[in-house]
Amino acid sequence: MNIQTAVQKAQLFLKEKKIKTPVLDSQILMSEAIKKEKEFVILNFDKEISNENLEYFDKLIQQRGKGEPVAYLIKKKYFWKYKFTVNKNVLIPRPDTEVIIEEVLKLTKNKDSLNLLDIGVGSGCILISILKDKKNFYGTGIDISKKSLDICKINGKNLGVISRLKLFKSDIDNFHFRKYDLIISNPPYIEKSKLKYLEKDVIGFEPKQALDGGIEGLTEISKVINGSSELIKKNGFLILEIGFNQKRKVKKILENKGFYIKKIIKDLSNNDRCIISMKIK
Ligand SMILES: C[S@@+](CC[C@H](N)C(=O)[O-])C[C@H]1O[C@@H](n2cnc3c(N)ncnc32)[C@H](O)[C@@H]1O
Repeated sequence: MNIQTAVQKAQLFLKEKKIKTPVLDSQILMSEAIKKEKEFVILNFDKEISNENLEYFDKLIQQRGKGEPVAYLIKKKYFWKYKFTVNKNVLIPRPDTEVIIEEVLKLTKNKDSLNLLDIGVGSGCILISILKDKKNFYGTGIDISKKSLDICKINGKNLGVISRLKLFKSDIDNFHFRKYDLIISNPPYIEKSKLKYLEKDVIGFEPKQALDGGIEGLTEISKVINGSSELIKKNGFLILEIGFNQKRKVKKILENKGFYIKKIIKDLSNNDRCIISMKIK
């Protein structure tokens, strides 16, 4: 069978399974199966595919048909300017989260050396992207999931920042290490009762502890703000990703803990996505 026939069959199958992007997914999974770039797949439709590669491709397509995200199937995801290793133990980095990197880079434009803390570091996509772009910054990442820290360590090594990265398995409630210049966090912020309405790709495959924000989605956010208020230096910034409808309540929690709200940033879909605050009291 040639690449074109295999890809077309896969597209039809994924369409039947109500997968939203059947064409793109089939091409990416073919490139994974034959270990070539996606461009090669598109430019070599008439090339024959070996039985072994076809078998692997079929397996990937079956898994995709069940909703398994492409990023987990190919074990990578591009975020900011970099390629991150991912598996089912980490949240797949989201393009909307890139607003955090943009803001940190703006805020620290004239800073030479800073100590950063990422609460709920996951794959490390936020912290490692910043360390890549700011060569004199040092980062600490904490997470309750040991398995996500294992992936973060791989990314730190692959992207050449491991010597400036410390990782700790800890709940934010139990982390009292030192004071940081800047804290970032993309905590789980989805309301527990709404988890069941998430897309199958998300709720069926991504780690629950990366999604479940408890009652009103504010349980982990509150913990992050409480912890940060102890861990941040005076006049240090806390940059927090939030859900589209949480701005008002999160602002209040921040203000009660001595943070001044500096800016609210919208994401690519124009939803409130990120709150930048400064510890003033
Ligand atoms: C939404 S994910 C974010 C992962 C990554 N920072 C990103 O932006 O893709 C939240 C992360 O916080 C971790 N986490 C959840 N509750 C935590 C807690 N109480 N203390 C520390 N980490 C926590 C989860 O294991 C998960 O890796």
